[in-house]
Amino acid sequence: MKVQVDRRDGLSAAADVTATGVFERAEKDDSFPRTLQKEDEVTGGLIKAAWTRKEVKGKRKEIAVFHRPNGRGRILLVGLGPRAKFTPDTVRRASAEVVRALKGKGARTVAFRLGSFVGETVRSEAAVAAITDGAILGNYEFLKYRSTSDGGVEEASIHLGEEFSRDEAALKKVVTEQATLDDVVVWTRDIANLPADTASPQRLAEEAVALGKEFGLKVTVFDETKLAEMGCGGILAVGSGSVGHPPRMVVLEYAGGARRGRTVAVVGKGITFDSGGISLKPGLAMQEMKFDKSGAVAVLGILRAAASLKVPPRVIGVMCCAENVPSGTSYRPGDVVRSFNGKTMEIINTDAEGRVVLSDGLGYVVKQYRPDEVIDLATLTGAQVVALGDDTAGLVANDEKLAQGLLAASASSGEPVWRMPLTDYHRDIVKSEIADVRNSTEIQVGGMLTAAAFLESFVGGTPWAHLDIAGPAYTTAKTRKWQPAYQNVGATAFGVRLVTRYLETAPPRG
Ligand code: BES
Ligand code: MN
Ligand code: ZN
Repeated sequence: MKVQVDRRDGLSAAADVTATGVFERAEKDDSFPRTLQKEDEVTGGLIKAAWTRKEVKGKRKEIAVFHRPNGRGRILLVGLGPRAKFTPDTVRRASAEVVRALKGKGARTVAFRLGSFVGETVRSEAAVAAITDGAILGNYEFLKYRSTSDGGVEEASIHLGEEFSRDEAALKKVVTEQATLDDVVVWTRDIANLPADTASPQRLAEEAVALGKEFGLKVTVFDETKLAEMGCGGILAVGSGSVGHPPRMVVLEYAGGARRGRTVAVVGKGITFDSGGISLKPGLAMQEMKFDKSGAVAVLGILRAAASLKVPPRVIGVMCCAENVPSGTSYRPGDVVRSFNGKTMEIINTDAEGRVVLSDGLGYVVKQYRPDEVIDLATLTGAQVVALGDDTAGLVANDEKLAQGLLAASASSGEPVWRMPLTDYHRDIVKSEIADVRNSTEIQVGGMLTAAAFLESFVGGTPWAHLDIAGPAYTTAKTRKWQPAYQNVGATAFGVRLVTRYLETAPPRG
């Protein structure tokens, strides 16, 4: 979808629909909002009538559509909820609700009236970014395998009117950058949504190579032979059961926009299908495990965004890709596997495979690149979903500055994360009697944190942050209705906006 900034007032524009935000009416306040005066005029008084009858109340998610009497265009009112709770995310959600409400309704263009989406807590720059974000992501559908589509909005314009037209240049810049990032999110979702027969480790590697060509990134693909030479026993073990889809580790390098910037490594879990392996999962909802590659696909998206937006730091991306399926050649519970850095891992459960593949990626990137910081993204544990639900990622970090930087980026990007603790309690639990660490334990408590403790033992002393995105990485038909309108069913590409914002804004170390 194209998003543009327009100096004109949204009501005089020729768009199919004009969208106006409405704050929830305060209790006992029946006065008609001044901000809807013009909308009321062009609909010949219909809006005031609807307001008086309390058909329009400005509640969150409320949508009301009015037609102009001459038949030329519609006015859509979207509820923003109470002023006291108004944040950029309110606008992001409202904008997504607008484009979703217009799906299959014969509207090709929509004009947002900026003045109705700003307030004391959301200034014009934040508002235009949020409108852009919500519109592009809310409009997203995975259509590759569908022969029909309802059709939706193709162009959105954000109208400044007299009030904001003097800021046109600055606001245009904000919209262009946000749209660039959102286009990357859409691209990432399209890959993350591919099923496992198509999105094999080789295919993910090909996507990385193509990305590298497009943006001039150095991309290296390690196949199973090379992985064996290197001693990447984790990725090889997890991928050993797959017949047609051998494992890959992919490294992407973006040189950085600043001359002497720092190096940030991003490492992603890329399990193209997680059946559990020999420790087979119960069948219920196993199809969702095609999304177990979401961390690695987010790494692809982050590299694309970093290169598109020319973020200051140098960024090294590592994708740890394998298919986890049972067969006669699969790795087994009881096996002891040696990771790239020489540490041994006792396999208790082949379904705790994410940490096993990540051990190679983390060990490799810290040795080879000596990054200033490492961030990993992984759909790592069901425990994360239990603890935080499917909208908020778990953050575990061994470094205060990195953790605070990610929390700040989370707040401004709209991707929620919550920091979780990591202590010797968790570190002790993952110690093995016969190897350096074990990948699962007999007690199933604090699963998100014991998994993190396992990962920590592969980063050495490098400042490190772990994002467990098991919940927020994708949305199902069941959970969809509780999610903001900018998350359609399927992959969300969670982490791309968050980590890219971090790369854009984090101050240099030192
Ligand atoms: N990929 C799963 C985690 C997951 C669960 C992702 C739900 C998305 C939604 C991971 O590989 C896994 O199976 N984890 C196990 C670990 C356990 C065996 C220690 C889990 O969380 O149950
Ligand atoms: Mn698993
Ligand atoms: Zn998994």
